[in-house]
Amino acid sequence: MWSLTMSRLRSAMHGGKRSAREMTQTATTKRRRSKPAAKEEIEPSTSPSTYHTFHDPADVERLRSQLLSWYDEEKRELPWRTVAKTEPDLNIRTYAVWVSEIMLQQTQVATVIDYYNKWMKRWPTLQDLAAATLEEVNQMWSGLGYYSRGKRLHEGAQKVVSELNGEMPQTVDSLLRQLPGVGRYTAAAIGSIALGQVTGVVDGNVIRVLCRLRAIGADSTSPVVTEALWGLANMLVDPERPGDFNQAMMELGARVCTPKAPLCSKCPIQAHCHSYRKVNIKQEKNSKKLLGKQKPSMMPDIEDCMGSGTCQLCPTEPWDHDLGVQNFPRKPAKKPPRVERTLTCVAIRSGESGEDEYLLTQRPNKGLLAGMWEFPSLLLESESTEMKQKGALCAELGRILGVRLTESTIQFVGEVVHIFSHIHQTYVVYSVCLKDGTDTQTHTENTQWLNTSALHEAAVSTGVKKIVKLYDSVARQEDETSKDGKRRKHAGAKKDKKQEKSRQTGVSGGKQLSLSSFFKTLKQET
Ligand code: ADE
Repeated sequence: MWSLTMSRLRSAMHGGKRSAREMTQTATTKRRRSKPAAKEEIEPSTSPSTYHTFHDPADVERLRSQLLSWYDEEKRELPWRTVAKTEPDLNIRTYAVWVSEIMLQQTQVATVIDYYNKWMKRWPTLQDLAAATLEEVNQMWSGLGYYSRGKRLHEGAQKVVSELNGEMPQTVDSLLRQLPGVGRYTAAAIGSIALGQVTGVVDGNVIRVLCRLRAIGADSTSPVVTEALWGLANMLVDPERPGDFNQAMMELGARVCTPKAPLCSKCPIQAHCHSYRKVNIKQEKNSKKLLGKQKPSMMPDIEDCMGSGTCQLCPTEPWDHDLGVQNFPRKPAKKPPRVERTLTCVAIRSGESGEDEYLLTQRPNKGLLAGMWEFPSLLLESESTEMKQKGALCAELGRILGVRLTESTIQFVGEVVHIFSHIHQTYVVYSVCLKDGTDTQTHTENTQWLNTSALHEAAVSTGVKKIVKLYDSVARQEDETSKDGKRRKHAGAKKDKKQEKSRQTGVSGGKQLSLSSFFKTLKQET
């Protein structure tokens, strides 16, 4: 097993051209040379030194055992972990882990748990999911963000039922090829956790752990680093417990080897960590300098890569003393998000039972928030006056309802900021009360009136929930300030200080809110 995994790593890290032994010899030779004699003798820049890998099988054995012992003691009991361990039906087990892995992409474990439990209760098998509608899936996904994930799960279940005889693919390769939305990471995670396949995984947490472990400081999104990390993950994975090992790596990244304030003193594999050693060596050197002792360090001299300067895994920037192990990993600077402003209008009417109802329109089936419901909205192309904005909303509502509205019926409510992964969105929120006998029959497809509880159940995004929260808080303040205590006509803008604040933040505190009380969890999504 060892020689197989070692050779797999070598070929992943060295393009299959050179053995680890060759690499070690080259590194030693280089160390003795003060200057390369001729240019062609320099290591090819694609060959990382052994510093960034493991070359002692016993080391790897120790690391596996230390990590798995820690995991056995410290792991969180998570519903998908229980299913993976206890569900005897391979098809259900694979489906359940697939659902969990899709939900866990870009979403925190704590948020996923509830969604996962509800999902599995409603659709315990992929046949159940395949029989659901996309609308039901979007409803279930509401608030979780990155809505195309739910859509792909649904498409995948339908494909397995209609094309694969209801049998989930049972290898990493076939999972990757046959399931929409399943990439290299997800296929490897499902394969190892549900099917016991011996493959490593590389997600954001694992990238951090491995980069720190082996001091990989080049851009962690570059192809050469990506391949090196997969090579490392495939080499380190425990052949007896691949699913547990992979989850232990993720768990370590999530709870100990964290992006900020990592808990190195609690790390079960600290002894293998080059970054940690670098921090200690630097500290030792500094304190010796301070004390005037210049004795050489007792630590083995492995604090740096011998290929540094030509190595594609080494950082291009110098070590930042203040960052410590957080020098790794390095990512390229993020592109700033696109800035958008969107006009949106909360239109209210009295339903047949006298309850307030809200006008919702459905987004297109492709693109951002595909198929989700929102208040009638218009992208603001350029800055415009309040009057012009009201005019544009009158026209849009008029188109939907087939009526003529005047600007004076529309009230400014405030602004809501919502950050998607790539868009900084500001919703400029207005409201209109249509309880004056206006004909509110909708005249376009994909529009509907929903009462408060139906709105709560609908497939709406977190941005819509924030708008509801703002609308409710402003309306409530108006109720409180209105002397006669009558039911509000609509939420409008009176520029007192409290409201100004709620307009800017998009949310306001306070007691139980009638509509927004339904929408408790607000977070980033796309
Ligand atoms: N993130 C992705 N997959 C996970 C898992 N199985 N457990 C915890 N966190 C994860």
